[in-house]
Amino acid sequence: MTLSLHPFRDDAPEALRLANALKVQLALIDVHRFPDGEITPRVSATRPTAIVYRSLHAPNGKLIELLLSADALRRNGATRLVLIAPYLPYMRQDAVFRQGEPISQRVIAQLLGAAFDRIITVDPHLHRTPSLAELFPTCKTTRLFGADALISHLRASPLPVNTLVVGPDVESGPLVRRIAEKLGFEHATLTKQRQGDARVEISMPDMPPTEGRPVLVVDDICSTGGTLCAAVSRLKALHAGPITVFVTHLLGGAPVVGQLRQAGAASVISTDACAGATGIVHLAGLLAGALEGSETLTADQA
Ligand code: R5P
Repeated sequence: MTLSLHPFRDDAPEALRLANALKVQLALIDVHRFPDGEITPRVSATRPTAIVYRSLHAPNGKLIELLLSADALRRNGATRLVLIAPYLPYMRQDAVFRQGEPISQRVIAQLLGAAFDRIITVDPHLHRTPSLAELFPTCKTTRLFGADALISHLRASPLPVNTLVVGPDVESGPLVRRIAEKLGFEHATLTKQRQGDARVEISMPDMPPTEGRPVLVVDDICSTGGTLCAAVSRLKALHAGPITVFVTHLLGGAPVVGQLRQAGAASVISTDACAGATGIVHLAGLLAGALEGSETLTADQA
């Protein structure tokens, strides 16, 4: 079996890094927009296994493009469709928080699960949902850890040995522990109370000493920046040393990086899961590793 790799145009730089890691060529999906606003994607030649690369931040239009492309690829000869979605959207809406709301996580999972045979993603926000397998019962799933890409990055550009790894809320706990344990750092998790879309309150029970100490603040998602800015400000108030922020999915892009620096972060690093983010921690190696050994990589050299 051979495979082909199909990104959309705006994901091409990140997909190219993956293509180079896999030694396959890109087969771009073009999207034609009709005057009335409807679209039709056009896919090029596919191999039996078609891998679609799509990072789904700002997801609403992209989801339609993706579902139509999956249909086009099957009609064009693909018998197995793998979705690489470094960022999987709508995972935070995993409950009815206020009467009258949907459980968006389930709706989106049903759509993607029906269209693809396998889904590979990085740090999906599965707070109340135990696993991707429960969310996608009919397709194979692979959950990768942004922490692993960060760890490789930090092995090349190390932080001081007394760095304290801090997560802003209980949900960041697994990410914090994975980084701290693998790099041998002390760690702490803060407590967050959300007051609104962009407003949070952070408290710091049982904090180890921070004065003058380098801190690495980590989270899976940074959207408005409210969570990480509050955490950085609190740490600054405790006279922490240089604060590095790492986030897997920097949804808020450059404006949020500015806010974090204003709050006191010395540097902000993110993966390339979302185009327009700082993108200095590349996921290509991690994604290629997930495919190697599980998909037959007799590459599409055509
Ligand atoms: C929520 O639990 C997530 O892990 C993030 O902390 C949250 O989505 C960040 O959102 P914002 O940047 O808007 O505070």
